[in-house]
Formats: sequence, structure tokens, C-alpha cells
Amino acid sequence: MGREDRPSKAGRPSAPIGVFDSGYGGLTVLKEIMRVMPEQEYLYLGDNARAPYGTRSFDIVYRFTLDAVKYLFEQGCRLVVLACNTASAKALRNIQMLDLPKIDPERRVLGVIRPTVEKLPQLTRNGHIGVLGTPGTIQSQSYDLEIQKFFPQYTVTGHGCPMWVPLVENREADTPGADYFVEQEIRRLMRKDPEIDTIILGCTHYPLLIDKIRQYVPEGVRVVPQGEIVAESLKEYLQRHPGLTENGPSKVTYLTTESAERFGDMASLFLGKPVKAQRVEL
Ligand code: DGL
Repeated sequence: MGREDRPSKAGRPSAPIGVFDSGYGGLTVLKEIMRVMPEQEYLYLGDNARAPYGTRSFDIVYRFTLDAVKYLFEQGCRLVVLACNTASAKALRNIQMLDLPKIDPERRVLGVIRPTVEKLPQLTRNGHIGVLGTPGTIQSQSYDLEIQKFFPQYTVTGHGCPMWVPLVENREADTPGADYFVEQEIRRLMRKDPEIDTIILGCTHYPLLIDKIRQYVPEGVRVVPQGEIVAESLKEYLQRHPGLTENGPSKVTYLTTESAERFGDMASLFLGKPVKAQRVEL
């Protein structure tokens, strides 16, 4: 698909907002972004053929994410949101520092970690923060580093939950089996720092487990999904940088590197309705 497929209202090629994830999880972020800015045009890309990213090495996540960003730029996007914590943790910094200056310094790639961290002072009372994420996100210590940079007085405790993404993707999120894994990981996190008063859901799949997570956290502990925070932050960013999007039609195109049928079907888990997707090669 070429960018000429999407003429804008003014007859010029449009510049949709690119939203990237390793697979389906970014749909939880896209859903909130579309709620906050329904008038925009979006291009969602899930690299389902190479997902999951959560257990992959730094270099591989960087390389795969860069492929996706370049692809979305070729489709006309001037702004790409990495709606994936693992990609934000392992690839964003390199792409911003090393690749964007060479590809096109006018374009932007944003992640989900910074906006979430910036919100913390409005959420925590005692500065004890828990972060739940894929093993890759937690091992990268990206949240720890970002939080320490802005709020060095905070205590950050990360914990990887390797079973949670497979639970969601295998449609087990609402089963009693999921209770076991959710309770176990919450207990492990709280054992590391019993004073935690705010838990960031640092993986785009985890909002689908939020009812169970809330059930097992101690009373008074706040559980924070990212979608809404990222969406509000993106809206403010676009108000400050209006040239990054070009008034296309208000719509979303779903692209996947795996089966379009499977994507369309699985999307209903995350969006509440099936969608029509197109398969692409990166
Ligand atoms: N979307 C990824 C994240 O937010 C999780 C899925 C994966 O491991 O690929 O970290």
C-alpha cells in the first residue's frame, strides 16, 4: 500500500499517525488515542509474524522496531508511536538518537514509558512505585532509569510476568487459571517492596487482566494502565507540533505482518469488535 492510496481532504497525501506494536497489545493504547482524538487518521502496524518481543534481545527488538518505523514512514507517517513497552524500552532511544537524524530529523518517534513516568507525581503518595512488564521491559530497567531521572527520590521495583501475555493471547484472561498467575506475580512484587502504593501496568496487554490484578493488590494500592495517559500526552504533544499529522479522513487502517484474518479476529479481544486487516511485509 502506498501513501497515494490515502488522499487527504485537501487532495494531498495524508500523514496518518503511525501506531506500532509487536502484535495486538498496542490496540489497547490505540483505542484510548482514538477516543481522545477521533478526528485523526491512524495506521496501526502489528509485527505479529515476529512477536512476542518481550523475551527477545535488545539488538533484535531494536532491529525489528526500526524496520517497522521505516515502513510506517514510507506510508507517509511523520509521527510513529511505539505503543509497546518492550519496543519503547529497547529501541526508542537508539532510533531517536542514531536513526532519526539520518532518516529525517523532522519526523518523530515517541514511546509509552516517558508519558507514564511523567504522570507519577499525580498518582503516588509515598513514592514507592511497582512496575509490571514483560521480562524484557523489566530487565532493560527502562522504567527505573526514567523514573530516577525525573524523580530520584522515588523507589522503583520492577517485576516481570512472563505468563501474562500468553494468558491474554490464548483467551485465558477471564479463567480461574489466570487468577493463579496474577495472584502469584502480585504477591512476588509486593514481597519485594511492601510499601508500593502505585503499580504501573508496563505492558500493553495487561489492561485485559486489570480486574483480576485489582482483586489481588492490597487495599489502597493504585493500579495504573497506560492507554489514557499516553493518549492525553500525545494530544498535548500534537497541539505543540501541529505539522506532524496531515488532515486525512478520520479512520484507522490495520496492518499486520502475519495472517490478516487472525489479526482481525484477535483484535476483537482488545477493541471489543473484529476489524479488517491487511497483511504486509516489512
Ligand atoms: N506489547 C508488548 C509490551 O507492551 C508485549 C507483547 C510482546 O511481548 O511482544 O511490552
